[in-house]
Amino acid sequence: MSGDFPDLFSLLERERKVTGSTVYIRFYPMIIKRMEGVYVWDVKDRRYLDFNASWAVANVGHSHPRVIEKVSDQLKKFISASYTTFPYVEAIEYVERIRGVSSVSEGKKAVFGHSGSDINDGVYKLLLLVTGRERMVSFIGAYHGQTLGSYSVSGHKAQAMLSPYKEVIKVPYPYCYRCLWGLRYPGCNLKCVKYIEYLLDTVYPGDTFAGVFVEPVQSDGGDVVPPPDFHRKLFQVIKKYDLAYVMDEVKVGFGRTGKFFASDTFGVKPDIITMGKPMASGFPLSMALMREDIADKYEGTHLFTLSPNPVSIAAAHATLDVILDNDLADNAASMGDYLLRSLKEVMANHDLIGDVRGKGLILGIELVMDRESKAPASAETAKAVYRMWELGLLTAYTGMHSNVIELTPPLIINREHVDEAVNLIDKAIDDVEHGRVPDEKVRMFAGW
Ligand SMILES: Cc1ncc(COP(=O)(O)O)c(C=O)c1O
Repeated sequence: MSGDFPDLFSLLERERKVTGSTVYIRFYPMIIKRMEGVYVWDVKDRRYLDFNASWAVANVGHSHPRVIEKVSDQLKKFISASYTTFPYVEAIEYVERIRGVSSVSEGKKAVFGHSGSDINDGVYKLLLLVTGRERMVSFIGAYHGQTLGSYSVSGHKAQAMLSPYKEVIKVPYPYCYRCLWGLRYPGCNLKCVKYIEYLLDTVYPGDTFAGVFVEPVQSDGGDVVPPPDFHRKLFQVIKKYDLAYVMDEVKVGFGRTGKFFASDTFGVKPDIITMGKPMASGFPLSMALMREDIADKYEGTHLFTLSPNPVSIAAAHATLDVILDNDLADNAASMGDYLLRSLKEVMANHDLIGDVRGKGLILGIELVMDRESKAPASAETAKAVYRMWELGLLTAYTGMHSNVIELTPPLIINREHVDEAVNLIDKAIDDVEHGRVPDEKVRMFAGW
């Protein structure tokens, strides 16, 4: 494709004639031509700094040479083994390697999938089968995927339209900026956990529940970082009733929170950890590591013809190599601290910013109409994200009110990348505050 590509808007209109809107959420007219490292080029050959990383997939950066090399080698060997019947060494070795990364993965057994959605769905199914209990606990604002089971444990507005599995009790996540009880941590004594304990002690008997699905950091719910001891306290409560702790690390695993496993960042050893997105740097692959008694109870109850695909496994080996050899989790921790500090400085100049928060390289900037009422500034958020795109920075927004700018850059970023992004964020928010981003431009994407 050449640099004089037709207008990006007309291309999106062409797309809308042939694809269902169920397949997209868009923020600006970005049409990809090429991706490399921390950069993305559009079909007009414009370069963007990528602080979205394809929704937290490109932890090692786009098209990492080591991923390309391993994948190319594998393509010449075999691409279509159905692991269900014809296992291969590379997949076994991969699980052995992941088990060795930390004490949270040690001793656990693997079950495979293609995506975050289907692995969470599979875990849901296995827990029902193994425990004989029907209920689950999950969180308001959670996102666990799009299949019927993972949709049911999710807690976004969309689930109000359809919540196929009725036995899911949805409870508040520790969203301290908007604490439901109006309390402050640590004085609150984690009332949100006490509330769950109260439910399990009273109206919903704890021994009727199979498990709890929880995100280490609630990302799509607004990049909500829980207090440091939230997961540990929740773990204690649910263990009173023998529920399985399912930590959904699909989005923030593989180094993003500053440790390889987010479970380590929050000091818990879940019964099940689900993984996906960054595992294979964009090739379809997901996995759950789980207690042996769950993984082994019924043979052949969670398998797919094409999973794990050998090319995906090759990419996963290379991704793991790059993360471990380059200490990318440490880099995520230090760059995340630096980015958070820089964003706090930006916040001082803009009343539109109500809160900035983050853990490692998953960060959120929450926009509000004013800091007193905290009314969500949803239109302004859409405009800010759009303006960032115009200025050459890729981001997206999240949250129950679509008013949180999410930053999930590749874990390979350095201070110069952070400085560049922060300058653009500062400028974009300034432009929104001063009315320099017209509604018409953004309307096509923002749904208002
Ligand atoms: C925490 C979490 N779990 C599961 C999923 C679903 O993953 P996928 O889109 O690969 O099905 C997502 C996707 O955003 C996610 O953020």
